[in-house]
Amino acid sequence: KQDDDQLIIDAGQKQFGATTCSSCGMVYSADNPEDNFQHNQFHQRFLDSIKFVGWKKERVVAEFWDGKILLVMPDDPKYATKKAEDVRRVADNELGFQQVTLSRPTQAKTYLFINTERMVVGCLVAEPIRQAYRVLEQPDRHKDMTKDDFMERHRAWCCSTVPEQALCGVSRIWVFSLARRQSIATRMLDTVRSTFMYGSHLTKEEIAFSDPTPDGKLFATKYCNT
Ligand code: ACO
Ligand code: ZN
Repeated sequence: KQDDDQLIIDAGQKQFGATTCSSCGMVYSADNPEDNFQHNQFHQRFLDSIKFVGWKKERVVAEFWDGKILLVMPDDPKYATKKAEDVRRVADNELGFQQVTLSRPTQAKTYLFINTERMVVGCLVAEPIRQAYRVLEQPDRHKDMTKDDFMERHRAWCCSTVPEQALCGVSRIWVFSLARRQSIATRMLDTVRSTFMYGSHLTKEEIAFSDPTPDGKLFATKYCNT
């Protein structure tokens, strides 16, 4: 009897098609051989990439009940920069970025959020920028914004008394799909603001996001208005 029930449940899941793997978060169709293959290919590689074994030296920049944030600098030991790169590659893959190069690799700071299960569930790459070449805007405003509007916004930005080097560009921000909406991105960004520049706390306006995705825009808009 119990076996019958089990069979029915399995069949039901298969009919609905899409399954979300509870470990890697991939959404795939279990009854599709091609999808299954893709998932198998992805699963272990992904989990290996975000696995965190612990390091001899960890630059812990924030601690929480559900995890901690580590900062990785370009000159750090290979084990650290390698992990930062692996996770960045995972993020890039999901973001559809083709190239893994950063605009200023020698100055990029990578923030990794490690959860209590020793997985890197968040990654943020911050780089110093000369100018905020992109201003945060309301979603959907872009298209009907006149040139004057644009200049107005741009001018306000350019005329700020903020020193050039105080500006920080977020070129990547990524949170593991199964760990989203738990303020991990918010906490990473708060940590960037207090640690990116030695001795100064950056305001939300001093942070710029490059090429935000729809998710990124929703998050950034919320973050900057609160
Ligand atoms: N839809 C609507 N609102 C959102 C979303 C969303 N997808 N994501 C965040 N928000 C808003 C919410 O108001 C949220 O607060 P709430 O959960 O109390 O409602 C608030 O932002 C804070 O969200 P966090 O929990 O801090 O954000 P999270 O840890 O989930 O990470 C992120 C957000 C990084 C955008 C994540 O969804 C992600 O990794 N997406 C895929 C990768 C991506 O698109 N990254 C941005 C690329 S842009 C760039 O890298 C410069
Ligand atoms: Zn999986």
